[in-house]
Amino acid sequence: MRFRNFTNVAAILLALTARHVSSSKIRMGLEVLREDNYAQLSGRKVMILSNPTGVTVEMDLGVDVIFDSGAVDLVGVMGPEHGFRGAAPAGGSSETFIDPRTGLTVYDAYNVNLTTLMRFISESGADTVVFDIQDVGARFYTYIWAMHDTMIAAALSNASFIVLDRPNPITGLNAFGPVLNVNYSSYVGRQPIAQAHGMTAGELASMFVGEGWIKQAANGSELSLSVVKMKGWERWMAWKDTRLPWIMPSPNMPTPETALIYPGTCLFEGTSLSEGRGTSRPFELLGAPFTDDTWSATIRALNIAHTAYRPACFSPTTSKFAGNTSCGIQTYVSASSKREFETFDPIYLGVSLLWAAKKLYTAPVDDGNVTASFHWLYSESSDGGRRYNVDLLSGGPLVREGIDAGLSPHALREKWMGGLGEFRRVRERYLLY
Ligand SMILES: *[C@@H]1O[C@H](CO)[C@@H](O)[C@H](O)[C@H]1NC(C)=O
Ligand SMILES: *[C@@H]1O[C@H](CO)[C@@H](O)[C@H](O)[C@H]1NC(C)=O
Ligand SMILES: *[C@@H]1O[C@H](CO)[C@@H](O)[C@H](O)[C@H]1NC(C)=O
Ligand SMILES: *[C@@H]1O[C@H](CO)[C@@H](O)[C@H](O)[C@H]1NC(C)=O
Ligand SMILES: *[C@@H]1O[C@H](CO)[C@@H](O)[C@H](O)[C@H]1NC(C)=O
Ligand SMILES: *[C@@H]1O[C@H](CO)[C@@H](O)[C@H](O)[C@H]1NC(C)=O
Repeated sequence: MRFRNFTNVAAILLALTARHVSSSKIRMGLEVLREDNYAQLSGRKVMILSNPTGVTVEMDLGVDVIFDSGAVDLVGVMGPEHGFRGAAPAGGSSETFIDPRTGLTVYDAYNVNLTTLMRFISESGADTVVFDIQDVGARFYTYIWAMHDTMIAAALSNASFIVLDRPNPITGLNAFGPVLNVNYSSYVGRQPIAQAHGMTAGELASMFVGEGWIKQAANGSELSLSVVKMKGWERWMAWKDTRLPWIMPSPNMPTPETALIYPGTCLFEGTSLSEGRGTSRPFELLGAPFTDDTWSATIRALNIAHTAYRPACFSPTTSKFAGNTSCGIQTYVSASSKREFETFDPIYLGVSLLWAAKKLYTAPVDDGNVTASFHWLYSESSDGGRRYNVDLLSGGPLVREGIDAGLSPHALREKWMGGLGEFRRVRERYLLY
């Protein structure tokens, strides 16, 4: 009896300790794997593709915890954009370095080709690649394409692939925006998925395999994929509902609110206006020295549900218009409940802001001066044609051409609804939660 009470006290103390760490009841894929003492990795030579978001509930880096457990034969690490520990080694240019904490070789997997990824796998001797990175739900966020390309390299190397799943921080309720036209495939969008896909990394990986995309890119080689599902996460949950601490997945994603707005307003990267980089509110603040408060008045008139706007002046410390004051707009997203997230369309919001900016700030006579008025940014392609940045971000020429042709945001959205409807149907087959 006494003994039993004692056990109960110990259990309560343990529970209190756990609560002290995090009030979340959700277990990430990493936690689920750890609770099983990494049984799934036993006998494997394991390489991990991860970054500072790949943490345990105590916020320790998964790679360190797995390494310290001694239960797994870790043979190497790959880092995505922004690096494995969030800071490239001094100089940042070396492709490979030795991690001082673990002695493991760290390879830079950001936007490298398949030959290089396959070399990383063969050099390390891995037969299993594990992915553990927090995504944000937007097609152009590159971690999912680091995953995609590494899946192809794994298939070609006969290595199996395991995704340790994490939440979609903007909920998994619905998909929005244009589906990528594969002729515009790039490192900000490899496959025909919607701009806000509404899936987790594990679900996307399942789709990449299930739709035959990996096999096709791997010349017919099959990939053995498994997803370690989360426990306790449900599709309606936005980040705030998980009660988990937010670890910035990249330097310009400071808060979960940034993630809500990013799938739409990141399109401003493809324009001459500042998308708020170099401020403490990237993607919420938008503007240029030539914008003014008519912008917020124009956008308010569209009555987009669950959004609010104020005229806002800011002075970026880096990036476009660094050191100059712009008076533009700050956008707020107030969607909060399941019902509101089902209908809040971040891409419609972003496209509406673009439409208004183009209408208000195009020079009557264009002298080509991009610091003086609204312009689409582009680079010259080898055949002399123009490669518009916004086309790569929005997955094709549809958004830019529609705005240039004077279509309203509503009419423009109608243009992508057909493709989106088809994507939504296919997506259903891969939902794990
Ligand atoms: C892949 O990238 C490496 C390193 O940049 C380069 O040397 C190699 O030629 C590339 N291979 C292909 C097939 O493009
Ligand atoms: C691929 O890996 C599997 C399992 O690790 C192994 O059984 C098989 O022989 C390998 N195939 C080739 C062609 O290396
Ligand atoms: C991609 O380009 C090819 C060749 O120009 C064309 O036949 C095809 O229709 C294009 N696909 C889409 C989705 O636009
Ligand atoms: C796939 O096969 C083609 C034709 O044999 C070859 O040119 C290409 O390099 C292969 N791709 C990969 C990723 O191995
Ligand atoms: C920003 O301000 C600096 C100093 O006032 C000026 O020299 C520079 O041309 C401006 N640049 C842009 C892009 O506005
Ligand atoms: C471009 O526009 C900016 C802002 O109006 C102005 O300061 C600059 O002199 C212009 N540059 C040229 C080359 O006309």
